[in-house]
Amino acid sequence: MKVVIGADHGGYILKEEITSLLEEMGIEYEDMGCNCEDSVDYPDYGLPVAEKVARGEADRGIVICGTGIGMSITANKVKGIRCALVHDMFTAKATREHNDTNVLAMGARVIGPGLAREIAKIWLSTEFEGGRHAKRIGKIAEYEQKDN
Ligand code: RB5
Repeated sequence: MKVVIGADHGGYILKEEITSLLEEMGIEYEDMGCNCEDSVDYPDYGLPVAEKVARGEADRGIVICGTGIGMSITANKVKGIRCALVHDMFTAKATREHNDTNVLAMGARVIGPGLAREIAKIWLSTEFEGGRHAKRIGKIAEYEQKDN
């Protein structure tokens, strides 16, 4: 599995924590920045992550900002992206099983590094259940293909 990761200044420190986790887990990753706590705009980092996943250049994406909200809105604008903003372990698992999310968003000002690591671990290791959930995701994809 290849993961692409990005953050704004609010998520930079947590991104460093999560890249350490990816290294510990032996997961290949590409870090798209940002690389310090100087103020930046989250779409400049969220869109490249989401686009790489949508193009199939990475299997999954992780995006982090202060709340996770700006990054999740951004990622979900990209066709083919199903991004979930997750701050607990239950939805980390459920969103993989039910929604087959390909991008995970987290808010560094909402949760601490310990919980964020557990969420990322669960999200990265949980499989999509398919079945009735596949039909539902299909309806989203169908909508995306229309000229809305
Ligand atoms: C930056 O201050 C902050 O607005 C950003 O990290 C994020 O929380 C936006 O949704």
